[in-house]
Amino acid sequence: MEMKEIQKTQGVYISTYGCQMNVNDSERMYSLLEMLNYQPVSSPDQASLIIINSCSVREKPVHKVHSEVGRYRELKKANPELRIGVGGCVAQQEKDRLLKDVPLLDFVFGTDSIDKLPEIVAKVKSEGQPVVSARFEHQQPYHIETLIKNPGVSTFVNITKGCDNFCTFCVVPFTRGRERSRPLKHLLEDVRRLVDRGVKEVTLLGQNVNSYTSDCGTNFAGLLKALAEQTPIQRIRYTTSHPKDFNQELVEVMQACRDKLCEYIHLPVQSGNTQVLERMNRGYSREEYIEKAQMIFNTIPGVVLSTDIIVGFPGETDEQFAETLSLLDEVPYESLFAFKYSPRPFTKAARFEGQLPEEVKSERLNRLFERHRELAFPMAKKYEGQNLAVLVEEYDSETGRVSGRSTQNKLVHFTGSQELIGQTVWVKIKEAFPQTLRGVLVQ
Ligand code: SAH
Ligand code: SF4
Ligand code: F3S
Repeated sequence: MEMKEIQKTQGVYISTYGCQMNVNDSERMYSLLEMLNYQPVSSPDQASLIIINSCSVREKPVHKVHSEVGRYRELKKANPELRIGVGGCVAQQEKDRLLKDVPLLDFVFGTDSIDKLPEIVAKVKSEGQPVVSARFEHQQPYHIETLIKNPGVSTFVNITKGCDNFCTFCVVPFTRGRERSRPLKHLLEDVRRLVDRGVKEVTLLGQNVNSYTSDCGTNFAGLLKALAEQTPIQRIRYTTSHPKDFNQELVEVMQACRDKLCEYIHLPVQSGNTQVLERMNRGYSREEYIEKAQMIFNTIPGVVLSTDIIVGFPGETDEQFAETLSLLDEVPYESLFAFKYSPRPFTKAARFEGQLPEEVKSERLNRLFERHRELAFPMAKKYEGQNLAVLVEEYDSETGRVSGRSTQNKLVHFTGSQELIGQTVWVKIKEAFPQTLRGVLVQ
């Protein structure tokens, strides 16, 4: 009984929305809160501290934050000691306004205030007053060490923060601030430390990893080469690449170090029409994008590409959208992430003329997904009969199945055992589904 009491007063529940950067930030929050004796719990009703790590990239995730806070009203009534905070991109965007709109909240902290979290929580508890901390730290260079309680087999490592591209649809430059890179030396040490803790694979994170520049002048290709050659990490992935900064040097390094650098690239195109791309301020034309994709396919055999697309950008005509559809025939994307355009605060495109009705956006989104489904299934089928190198991440004792990712970033399931976790094994693919592959272990 007493044990339960202690656990209850020290449970923290973090609910995470948005991109991998937020997922990584939530891990950091759990680690930092350990200093105040908080342990993660699996449901909000066990927690005495609830944090919503929010995303504001589109309207839907913002609504989800508001409705989630609403759901905690009863919990707070039942337990007046419960503290609720919002972090992440909505917090950065709204700052103290969020406290006024949602009086249930005890604290709001921005994307540059994560490391202040223990201090903020301690202050909220001792003073009983709401706290807001949402100022950008303009410190250069950017110094953080990866903090993660249980890194597992595969983990994220931030290499840059912020974004300076100001694509006209995107709120991220306003919620994550100016771009900063971590020094190469720190990244090498960070990855070596993670390897010592059992990590086999790192995914390097940045909004535009291609513009990474270390204080010593090393660029992104140089960083990849250094990590591949000077650390014992087994696999390296990265996201997100920006097509305008994606160059030949990078693909050559990927090919030269392909024993460690996975042949998978997420290369968001956003639109297949040059005029729309210009109004999005993406910095490349349809033709330039296709040329880069071809350069990638020509240099790295077997490489897999995925992309992000926005449909219904202000002023997008049917003809312009048709060019996005036809791009799918020119660039074989194995995965597609597509979204309806959503006007975001502070962004230029939110004030553009020609905002399109929801029905038009929905109809285009459906057509795009339908076309992609037709193309993607045959692409997945080509893996049947192939042997893929799979890094095993999970074991399900109920089904006796293990799962992991191939170097091409395909999720692969097969029958195996707990001991395989952390090992890279050859799996012969027997059956391909749109999102996953099923195979057997090659003995
Ligand atoms: N830095 C990444 C993108 C981060 S946001 C890049 O440049 O590719 C992730 C994706 O969300 C974007 O690629 C885009 O497709 C989508 N997105 C961003 N803002 C959006 C908006 N206002 N409406 C709809 N989708 C949006
Ligand atoms: Fe947003 Fe463009 Fe920066 Fe990506 S590159 S985060 S889409 S502004
Ligand atoms: Fe969302 Fe912020 Fe990531 S807006 S997509 S959580 S950078």
